[in-house]
Amino acid sequence: MDKIGIIFGGKSTEHEVSRVSARSVAEAINKDKHEPVLIGITKQGEWKKFSGPLSEMADGSWEKDAEPFSPGQLKDLDLIFPVLHGKYGEDGTIQGLFEMLHVPYAGCGVLASSLAMDKAASKLIFQSCGLPTPDFQLILREELSDHLEEAADRCEKTLVYPMFVKPANTGSSVGISKVRDRDELRQGILEAARFDRRIVVENGVDALEVETGVIGNDRPECAAVGSIQAARDFYDYTAKYTEDSGTVIQVPAQLDEELSSQVRETAVKAYQALDCAGCARVDFLLDKKTGELFINELNTLPGFTSLSMFPMIWKEQGVGFTELIDRIIDYGYERFQDSGIKPEGFLNK
Ligand SMILES: Nc1ncnc2c1ncn2[C@@H]1O[C@H](COP(=O)(O)OP(=O)(O)O)[C@@H](O)[C@H]1O
Ligand SMILES: [Mg+2]
Repeated sequence: MDKIGIIFGGKSTEHEVSRVSARSVAEAINKDKHEPVLIGITKQGEWKKFSGPLSEMADGSWEKDAEPFSPGQLKDLDLIFPVLHGKYGEDGTIQGLFEMLHVPYAGCGVLASSLAMDKAASKLIFQSCGLPTPDFQLILREELSDHLEEAADRCEKTLVYPMFVKPANTGSSVGISKVRDRDELRQGILEAARFDRRIVVENGVDALEVETGVIGNDRPECAAVGSIQAARDFYDYTAKYTEDSGTVIQVPAQLDEELSSQVRETAVKAYQALDCAGCARVDFLLDKKTGELFINELNTLPGFTSLSMFPMIWKEQGVGFTELIDRIIDYGYERFQDSGIKPEGFLNK
């Protein structure tokens, strides 16, 4: 039995979602092989070990039954499975801690995590690899005090309305707006600037959103493709986390075979472009009129809740939730063994 530390909660805006995802992972993990050890991080950033019922993790009452835990104790575990979304969980910072402690962990490493978290950095890599993503402008918060109009000019010169304005480093659609004119653009930039010093403004696509999942290390495999159609203006926070928001999720997506292959091949290329490991979900915008495909973003810690796309598209591909978690854990051990210096002549062994 190996001890798998499941880390949940955290200081990000996606604290609640993380707790629900982590509960699903803790329920699904193969208990014949692994002993889950639950480690929560409060919104204030305090670490605690939790041994109570899993329902308390999801409803938030876990904190009262938890005992103190220090990050250094992670060394006592065999592998860490961070089920944290957003800042300080999905952005490479906690992965850096695991590296420093020299403990194996599931999912992407420092580089892939931080690149994928930053929407501007990941788009630059996609562009330089010839992978399609909507054109964009990067604005710094610092420009806003004196140069907001110049920044808006820059967007209007190179992009077309409607545009999407996003903080470069949030998730769950927090701080994102769809803007249709100059006034909305200004408002959108100011709103996004509340959340981040880097702001991305990009071309809007009238799109069907399609997503697929990738798992593995240097030989990644791809899941089935799913689609999302929000009943709202776009797939915002309410559409994502309210059960009756009218969002229609289809697995598999109703795409012809050729388009579906294109999505899956592009997803694997995006995964490799950012040097992902373990797992990631790749989200696309499929232009309803032209059929053009764009990468929207890559999430290194896909949602694992019962409403989440990632487990669904793997199930469709024939990989159940327990096996999926098992494989992501195995890739974590594999990556740990594969990193570092190899003795001379290792290729011949
Ligand atoms: N360029 C775009 N064109 C059309 N819709 C977009 C675009 N960018 C974002 N959206 C909409 O906003 C949602 C959230 O944006 P996204 O970049 O995925 O941020 P997050 O990391 O918060 O999920 C998307 O799921 C989609 O509905
Ligand atoms: Mg998204």
